Amino acid sequence: MKELAKKYGIPTAGFEVFTESVAAKKYIKGFKGKFVVKADGLAAGKGVIVCSSKEEGLEAVEAMMERKIFKDAGKKVIIEECLEGEEASIIVVTDGKDAVPLASAQDHKRTLDGDKGPNTGGMGAYSPAPVVTDETMKAVMKDIIRPAIDGLSKEGIKYTGALYAGLMIDSSGPKLLEFNCRFGDPETQAILPRLKSDFVELIEASIDDEIDIASLQWDERPCVSVVISSGGYPGEYKTGFEIDGLDALEKMKDVYVFHAGTRASGEKTVTAGGRVLNVTALGSDIKDAIDRCYNAVNLIEFEGMHFRRDIGYRALNRR
Ligand code: GLY
Repeated sequence: MKELAKKYGIPTAGFEVFTESVAAKKYIKGFKGKFVVKADGLAAGKGVIVCSSKEEGLEAVEAMMERKIFKDAGKKVIIEECLEGEEASIIVVTDGKDAVPLASAQDHKRTLDGDKGPNTGGMGAYSPAPVVTDETMKAVMKDIIRPAIDGLSKEGIKYTGALYAGLMIDSSGPKLLEFNCRFGDPETQAILPRLKSDFVELIEASIDDEIDIASLQWDERPCVSVVISSGGYPGEYKTGFEIDGLDALEKMKDVYVFHAGTRASGEKTVTAGGRVLNVTALGSDIKDAIDRCYNAVNLIEFEGMHFRRDIGYRALNRR
């Protein structure tokens, strides 16, 4: 992603790539202020370490490249400048020539309220993200998505389907933090209940090279999705606990429960993963969506369950 961004002029943080820990450590010694050490491979959302000092950076490089805490995923590391601003996610669906954006969303990656604690796959999301103004959305499409799709095509790669852009937004505009070749989780749970257009038609259009369809129709109401996780996640956790309250949520209007780490055990539903459920609600405004979502969350019970109580706080603070 970083090399594609550099080659095709997509705004992103300055970076260097290392396959030798000696060279990586030497580079870190020249840094002032915050920077980020990233494992190049997949590390279950834990491979990004934001460092506030050279010592933290040296420790991150040693952990990844010498002690191999992420196994082969840390053989190559990227060291990049730390961008400040507010994060948001834009997911587009593309046929390899054109792309249509889904509504904006914002994820909450840390496990605890106030964005504290370790990183997770995502503890909740809401859509739309007010930080993504119409102007920002235009800039994302023009300066990030368009050059990425054209660049991939020039590289001989026909990319179709969902392209997820993780962004950092400040007054100078959006910058690309990451691409994922998939929908976002839990962003998509907060986005899809707002989609009024036919989702299957959208996917078929991306398969059939017909994505130049008219833009998508959206429910104006905001949507909030709260992840309920197993106690201990993203570290070790136990599974197999019975989940109570699902029946009550089925009867609630504009409330959706997306199952993530669950399984059926006879008549019961039991926990079977780290992130267990995504409880999701639409509301007349962001406060109403948050309140309705937490009213639903509070009806769910299982042993050790954990969830953040502040999903959507940035949108709420902007009102
Ligand atoms: N929510 C972050 C991701 O899907 O990667």
